[in-house]
Amino acid sequence: MAFKIGLLGLGTVGTGTAQILQQPTGRHPMVQEIEIYKVGVRSLDKPRSISLPPELLTTDIEAIVTDPAVDIVVELLGGLEPARSLILKAIAHGKHIVTANKAVISRYGDEIFTAANQAGVYVLLEGAVGGGIPVIQPLKQSLGANQIHRITGIVNGTTNYILTQMQTSGGSFNDILGDAQQLGYAEADPTADVDGLDAADKIAILASLAFGGRIKLQDIHCEGIRQVSSADIAYAEKLGFVIKLLALAKRELMAAADTSQEEMLQVRVHPTLVPKAHPLASISGVYNAILVEGEPIGQVMFFGPGAGSGPTASAVVSDIVNIAAVLKTGRDAERLHPLLSCAHQHYCAISPISELVTRFYTRFLTKDHPGVIGSLGTCFGEQSVSLESIVQTGFHGELAEIVVVTHDVREGNFRQALEEIRTLDAVDSIPSILRVL
Ligand code: HSE
Repeated sequence: MAFKIGLLGLGTVGTGTAQILQQPTGRHPMVQEIEIYKVGVRSLDKPRSISLPPELLTTDIEAIVTDPAVDIVVELLGGLEPARSLILKAIAHGKHIVTANKAVISRYGDEIFTAANQAGVYVLLEGAVGGGIPVIQPLKQSLGANQIHRITGIVNGTTNYILTQMQTSGGSFNDILGDAQQLGYAEADPTADVDGLDAADKIAILASLAFGGRIKLQDIHCEGIRQVSSADIAYAEKLGFVIKLLALAKRELMAAADTSQEEMLQVRVHPTLVPKAHPLASISGVYNAILVEGEPIGQVMFFGPGAGSGPTASAVVSDIVNIAAVLKTGRDAERLHPLLSCAHQHYCAISPISELVTRFYTRFLTKDHPGVIGSLGTCFGEQSVSLESIVQTGFHGELAEIVVVTHDVREGNFRQALEEIRTLDAVDSIPSILRVL
């Protein structure tokens, strides 16, 4: 008996998925039990790099998600709508779902998994984070015995490519972004990537799996890489760091109003100075890596291609096969397989960024007057911000450039000190504020 899939979308990942299913030889034997039953596309006339029997293709995508013959709907349309509505409709018609759509899952996971649990169907999403890197199922299954403390990831290939190029060529963000767009490494509208939104979607999903609760996307502090300058990359290099866009999620205990302690999560995305010896520092170009830390495992890092047709299709087909394997061994709609389903009921409490304790790197442009460095030190000192180093690095025209690296400080105190520093006559601007891992 073949398992029939309805494939929604025949773009990059849809085509890669169909190619794997068309060539099952040498793969897991179950791959040949998967039948491409229907493929929903926006246009039948578009030239395609894959040859499929024309009768499989249809523009009536709704008809696929309601077709009684379809077992698994594979949503590879991307974007929020109609993807969300089609997933919900497919679930309502008893279809299992495989998707690589991190934007839909991070925003509507609550609605989708609630509907899926009620309908007794699976929603698998290995391709949504890290492309071909297996990280979703490892978090659900292989690492399930661990108390996860922290996840630190490079989960956006576009920004990692741009930052790597800035580091190796010394070019500016805008020039490298333009080149990346021409080479097809960055989208024409790069907003979701360069402003950190894609990485925020992905860390929301990873944190939810690692810490066993739902995450509200709007609780995630998110900064992109537009403000990272070639000067910062060069100073970071001299100080022994590389700059990476990191997505981080960490479990921590905070003092509650009474004397008890409350478990909260820090979940954030921002450019970060990463020590050169750190395992994530060497991840370059479009690659992704996710470092998971927990007890008793210690550290484990997942590395590989974070996007692309073949790699993401590899994750999608593994999800299809996982569902087919469960269906093959006898499906009980009342009792979903606990290692494949999602049973989260509550939202995790996320601590505000002002409570973060971290080191900072900051670059100031100031008048070159006696006492300026002293005034900076006084403002920081008054907010209990302890400095690791303060160096006048050179000049920008008439202005002196001063780079400060702090010890661990509470972010709220650091920001308060910066507010006071901004009011000093001698301070022209603060072009860069970056956190240090
Ligand atoms: N736009 C993403 C990236 C790939 O640049 O990594 C899809 O998740």
